[in-house]
Amino acid sequence: MPRILIIILVIGFALKVVPLFFNKHDFLFIEGQLKMDIKIRKADLGDFNQIDSLSEELLGSSVGDREEMFRKALENKDYLCLVAEINEEVVGFIDMWSFPDVSHGAYLAQIQNLVVTEKMRGKGVGTRLIEEMIRFFRKRKYHELHVSTEKKNRSAIRLYKRLGFRKEQLLLEMES
Ligand SMILES: CC(C)(COP(=O)(O)OP(=O)(O)OC[C@H]1O[C@@H](n2cnc3c(N)ncnc32)[C@H](O)[C@@H]1OP(=O)(O)O)[C@@H](O)C(=O)NCCC(=O)NCCS
Repeated sequence: MPRILIIILVIGFALKVVPLFFNKHDFLFIEGQLKMDIKIRKADLGDFNQIDSLSEELLGSSVGDREEMFRKALENKDYLCLVAEINEEVVGFIDMWSFPDVSHGAYLAQIQNLVVTEKMRGKGVGTRLIEEMIRFFRKRKYHELHVSTEKKNRSAIRLYKRLGFRKEQLLLEMES
């Protein structure tokens, strides 16, 4: 093989693959092709349809009015919702509530929902969403960040632990 061809191949390989080792979650392999990139941004009302179908994947159909709850949540300064986009398509979201806690004398925060659409799972999107939410949590100097998931959701628990969540508590729940 001519030397110039080998050099071109080596440079091409380096440009495409080496960045993965430095910032793996901003680059993705989808269907065998390298594609950029995961964009994380704040959600707005225009994202409702995607949030609705992601919520459907998480919980099935809603028990009330999802759109009304999304609108009310977005109006609240203690609420933050982030979406992940790949090629301008929303593929996941995470949201967080913060609240003043009397006994700590400080604001605590709770990740309420996290979901990535099924075909995009296992590619780093969930990690990027949580990392970005943790960045907001630290920037706003909230005291604790809580997250809950079902005990049997081993992959979500592994993900949260990998990103620094440690203390385990028992959450009891009652439905009206
Ligand atoms: C939980 C959930 C949000 C995770 O999202 P995700 O995008 O699949 O998460 P990631 O891809 O960042 O991480 C998942 C795994 O893929 C691996 N991974 C991350 N980037 C990767 C890549 N580029 N290539 C291969 N694997 C990768 C991670 O290491 C992780 O492995 P782990 O199971 O050992 O921790 C997603 O599975 C989901 O929506 N589940 C249903 C809803 C749910 O359970 N929500 C959480 C409780 S409310």
